[in-house]
Amino acid sequence: TVLVVDFGAQYAQLIARRVREARVYSEIVPSTTPVAEMLARRPAAVILSGGPSSVYAEEAPGLDRALFEAGVPVFGICYGFQLMAQTLGGTVDNTGAREYGRTRLSVTRTGSTLFEGTPEEQTVWMSHGDACSAAPPGFAVTAATEQVPVAAFEDDERRLYGVQYHPEVLHSTHGQQLLEHFLYRGAGLAPTWTTGSIVAEQVAAIRERIGNRRAICGLSGGVDSAVAAALVNKAIGSRLTCVYVDHGLMRKGETEQVEKDFVAATGAQLRVVDASERFLAALAGVTDPEEKRKIIGREFIRVFEQAQAEIVAEAGELGEEVRFLVQGTLYPDVVESGGGTGTANIKSHHNVGGLPEDLQFELVEPLRKLFKDEVRMVGQELGLPEEIVQRQPFPGPGLGIRIVGEVTRERLDLLREADAIARAELTAAGLDRDIWQCPVVLLAQVRSVGVQGDGRTYGHPVVLRPVSSEDAMTADWSRLPYDVLARISTRITNEVPDVNRVVLDITSKPPGTIEWE
Ligand code: XMP
Repeated sequence: TVLVVDFGAQYAQLIARRVREARVYSEIVPSTTPVAEMLARRPAAVILSGGPSSVYAEEAPGLDRALFEAGVPVFGICYGFQLMAQTLGGTVDNTGAREYGRTRLSVTRTGSTLFEGTPEEQTVWMSHGDACSAAPPGFAVTAATEQVPVAAFEDDERRLYGVQYHPEVLHSTHGQQLLEHFLYRGAGLAPTWTTGSIVAEQVAAIRERIGNRRAICGLSGGVDSAVAAALVNKAIGSRLTCVYVDHGLMRKGETEQVEKDFVAATGAQLRVVDASERFLAALAGVTDPEEKRKIIGREFIRVFEQAQAEIVAEAGELGEEVRFLVQGTLYPDVVESGGGTGTANIKSHHNVGGLPEDLQFELVEPLRKLFKDEVRMVGQELGLPEEIVQRQPFPGPGLGIRIVGEVTRERLDLLREADAIARAELTAAGLDRDIWQCPVVLLAQVRSVGVQGDGRTYGHPVVLRPVSSEDAMTADWSRLPYDVLARISTRITNEVPDVNRVVLDITSKPPGTIEWE
């Protein structure tokens, strides 16, 4: 394992991902972790991340120099670089040499372990106020910028390396290569961490933990729960029961996709609970978005718990114990909730919409060390179909929050048709990877006059909400080609009864959210 020590910037996650892209396994540890504890984990290498502090500030996070004396290869980035310089006897000061953004870097030494094979002049991403003006004894300076004479250094003997810039961001043109040079050449690691090895390792761990007891797993139709279930299924087969609650608010073909494609690909035992009547009854007369969300969340849990209780009872009759609940918790959830044990439980509770506090199950979270793109790769490795693995985000409350107004079966049917057309045309135009998602929203409380055939119509508009985003926290509206928009509009107004207008939402987030409710 390569440990990425997080000094409090947003960069640690990115560094960990880049290391994994180099097919070396990495984990993030907070900088408050004692060095003895880090070393006890026998890391293959340690990377010190950037961070917002100045090494001179009083409350600046420090580092025990024992880390540099343990014989473990260390790579310092930005703040980590300065910390290494300062700890080992170099000079770091506030020279006024601030650099932010794209910066020209000159490699000043041939035969450098990190820069070997990269151009003498390259663009890198800088973000610092303090700068290192003298490398510590034993280090060779390997690169400089116009402002900073010591932008990189290395000590091959002690296997200690550092750069002032951020190789993990894409703006640093040879950043990934540099990181790989540290991993492969500096630390002598081999790129052996592959999706195949993740699957094998997880399957073995799950088998060991669950033994011949039973587990259940809630499937939402999303990528994470499907991949988690597929992994556990590979490990324990028919001793896993998957439960899929059909709340009747899914899009066209989604429930069938889970029923057919998921089972076909995995052979998993699946229970589909058709609860659409129940959800519709609970939603009758409700128009307030928050109230809708609460009702859907509450009903979902009730139905899931009921199914759970049935499975436990049936297994009990056979003398078996259902002790485990499988969840699709991902690494960013774990890191963001503090990375500790216990904190992760809170997070996973709302993965299925809020499990009871006195959960009588032990959680199995086979994806808790993985990033989203890795989960997709594992899904592929497990043979899940593209439609599941490359799925765009879809909200848990489903189409229930895409009908502005009361949710009824008729309206759901209309919206399902309109949504299916939009999705089909976007896919046909090859735009699935360009957009983050494209909600289609039915404005059930609005009517407008139209003309179709020879007659007047008085129907509802639907809204297309295509957005591009990195993480759904912010988003921009996607500039879709006009001809694709035209095809979607024509088809929806022709094929979906009672819809006579298609409008395009051109609002970014903020101020709009992605969904309308
Ligand atoms: P908003 O509308 O807040 O959506 O900009 C951000 C992202 O989250 C999805 N979303 C949800 N996902 N349960 C979910 O699982 C929800 O209640 C929910 N509400 C919004 C939305 O589709 C978008 O990807």
